[in-house]
Amino acid sequence: PVLVVDFGAQYAQLIARRVREAQVYSEVVPHDTPVADLMAKDPAAIILSGGPSSVYAEGAPGMDPALVDTGVPIFGICYGHQLLVQALGGTVEHTGSREYGRTEVTVTDDAGVLHNELPRRHPAWMSHGDSVTKAPEGATVTATSEGAPVAAFEDTGRRFAGVQYHPEVGHSPHGQEVLRRFLHDIAGIRPQWTTSSIVEEQVAAIRRQVGDGRAICGLSGGVDSAVAAALVQRAIGDRLTCVFVDHGLLRAGERSQVERDFVAATGVNLVTVDARERFLSALAGVTDPEQKRKIIGREFIRVFEQAERDLKAQGDYRFLVQGTLYPDVVESGGGAGTANIKSHHNVGGLPEDLQFELVEPLRLLFKDEVRRVGLELGLPETIVHRQPFPGPGLGIRIIGAVDAARLETLRAADAIAREELTAAGLDRDIWQCPVVLLADVRSVGVQGDGRTYGHPVVLRPVSSEDAMTADWTRLPYDVLERISTRITNEVPEVNRVVLDVTSKPPGTIEWE
Ligand code: XMP
Repeated sequence: PVLVVDFGAQYAQLIARRVREAQVYSEVVPHDTPVADLMAKDPAAIILSGGPSSVYAEGAPGMDPALVDTGVPIFGICYGHQLLVQALGGTVEHTGSREYGRTEVTVTDDAGVLHNELPRRHPAWMSHGDSVTKAPEGATVTATSEGAPVAAFEDTGRRFAGVQYHPEVGHSPHGQEVLRRFLHDIAGIRPQWTTSSIVEEQVAAIRRQVGDGRAICGLSGGVDSAVAAALVQRAIGDRLTCVFVDHGLLRAGERSQVERDFVAATGVNLVTVDARERFLSALAGVTDPEQKRKIIGREFIRVFEQAERDLKAQGDYRFLVQGTLYPDVVESGGGAGTANIKSHHNVGGLPEDLQFELVEPLRLLFKDEVRRVGLELGLPETIVHRQPFPGPGLGIRIIGAVDAARLETLRAADAIAREELTAAGLDRDIWQCPVVLLADVRSVGVQGDGRTYGHPVVLRPVSSEDAMTADWTRLPYDVLERISTRITNEVPEVNRVVLDVTSKPPGTIEWE
């Protein structure tokens, strides 16, 4: 792998994703990983990420200088650029000229490999207080900026390079090309990380792990569990059984999408449990969001456990498939992830004492890779490109108590919004667009000749990379208008459509 050493900024995961976009497998490792442990992973190259620190700050994370003697190609970015320069005997100084944000970079006459034939002056994203003032002995300075005399250097002989700017962000339009050139042309790595190779490797890994055992997988209707199930199905065929719990809090068409489209694409064994009554009665009269979530989580576990007991008759299901993604793994410190299940998980918070061995075929993948794998496995676009949907479902999109009639209302409004967004070709531009029913709010309206006294629904379109932060999406007015007109015409209980224009933070994406 290419190892991305994380110096504590939020950029390491992004760098790892960009490396994979260059078709090279990458992993994020903490900055205090000893050199011996790095070498044990047999890295094809090492990338030192940016970080929040000054190399001179007290307690600033450092880099073991021995790293440069390992013979592994190294690319430094921002803070990592400065660390690499220091380790190689160059100079980093507090020059007093900081650069933050979009900055003009000038390619030198000897543009080297990384900046060869790029526009002589081009924008790049900077964020630094210290600057490299002298490149290491034997290295070429290939770019400069006003605040960074050595905005880029390379030593192709020893296979080292560094850039002061952030090539991984969209604001550095040539960044991906520079990163690609480092990986392919300086480090000499062959681009082999492709979707078909991912599928092949994961299928082989699942076969090794599961042997002739049986696995069970809870389907949520979401992308991750669907792709995880499809991979395991490809590996072990009908020794996988999927369980889909219809808790009555699903969107329109969701159940049939799983029962029809997913089964048609994979031929998987599917057990659907109709638990609508059970959830509705458990939720009756409950308005507190946390209480709703707890009840839904608890009921889900009961239903899932019952399904698992029912399956015992067929054989021993020792493995549980989970759609855990790489960002979850990195954020939880890269833990081993077998043994018992931790409480907070995709399936909806399974209890700790539920004894399964986990199969997590997506634990090396980012979301965009998961989607590509899904398509490679023949899953329909309707599943692969669907918006994220919370486990507690529409239950946390009804502000107020949940009942069958309110669910029906929200389902109808939500279906219209999704239809119009899809028709406008906006599905890929938005992260998701929850529709929220303000069930305890009423407002006066007029329709035909009559007064109405109905409920508002809120449209909550957001753009996001990872749902940790989000911005409200500027949807075209004509699309908003169609959604509003249709909902108020077609859903009798709703007489008002409002737009949520709050970013996250301070708002969360969901209302509850
Ligand atoms: P918030 O509302 O916290 O949501 O900004 C961030 C993302 O997570 C989804 N979400 C959930 N997903 N179980 C899930 O599987 C949950 O309990 C849950 N709550 C929120 C939400 O849709 C958004 O994509």
